Amino acid sequence: MTPLPPRKLRLGVNIDHVATIRNARGGDHPDPVRAAQIVAAVGGDGITAHLREDRRHIRDEDLRRIQEATNLPLNLEMAATEEMVAIALRHKPHAACIVPERREERTTEGGLDAAGQHNRLAPLVARLNDAGIRVSLFIAPEPRQIEAALRLGAPVVELHTGEYAHAEGEAVAYELKRLTDMAALATKNGIEPHAGHGLTYENVQPVAAIPQLAELNIGHYLIGEAIFVGLEASVRRMRDLMDAAR
Ligand code: PXP
Repeated sequence: MTPLPPRKLRLGVNIDHVATIRNARGGDHPDPVRAAQIVAAVGGDGITAHLREDRRHIRDEDLRRIQEATNLPLNLEMAATEEMVAIALRHKPHAACIVPERREERTTEGGLDAAGQHNRLAPLVARLNDAGIRVSLFIAPEPRQIEAALRLGAPVVELHTGEYAHAEGEAVAYELKRLTDMAALATKNGIEPHAGHGLTYENVQPVAAIPQLAELNIGHYLIGEAIFVGLEASVRRMRDLMDAAR
């Protein structure tokens, strides 16, 4: 029997930091919508945007504008709050990735404690699921978090690659093994594993090579590189590195 070709690994581009630069001057340039259109033109598979409680980058009206401007699926990263659930239900993004959020943090520093917050998360996940929004939980690569995602009925988990991205020396292989094992465990349990946070040209390939992963979400590095080479070139290069790793 001929083996199936490896499934293509999707690239979701997080465009938050285009909005960060825009907001630095309070006007409307650079527009994250234009970034979304470039990502679509260059063959990105999705747009990821995090509507934070303090609206420090993406704002409410950006969501509608992004949805109207491209046909790419929108992955809305959001905290597990009533306000954000209401916004998700109003906008009906393709996916909602639930992330932990603390106002004072610079970025999403740790995974969601799905295991410790079952009772709080369960009704919220159910409402998003019922609305046909694909729920993803941004979790640390730990068995108990995968098991919690299963109990919560989340169809997707996004494995936090921050520890891997920051690891040095022998810790790199250790962190990569955790990601590899948890991608396999998620798949075994019928959950689609994604991954993201802190990925760069230099560290993306070992993660992209994990066969069960279906999607990577990458933002800060791509937007940073885009300052020097343009967004089209930075997305294209990341895509090429991901494809070469499969
Ligand atoms: N995935 C999730 C759930 C995130 O919160 C973030 C950061 O907003 C990313 C992916 C992208 O991380 P980075 O900007 O470091 O590439």
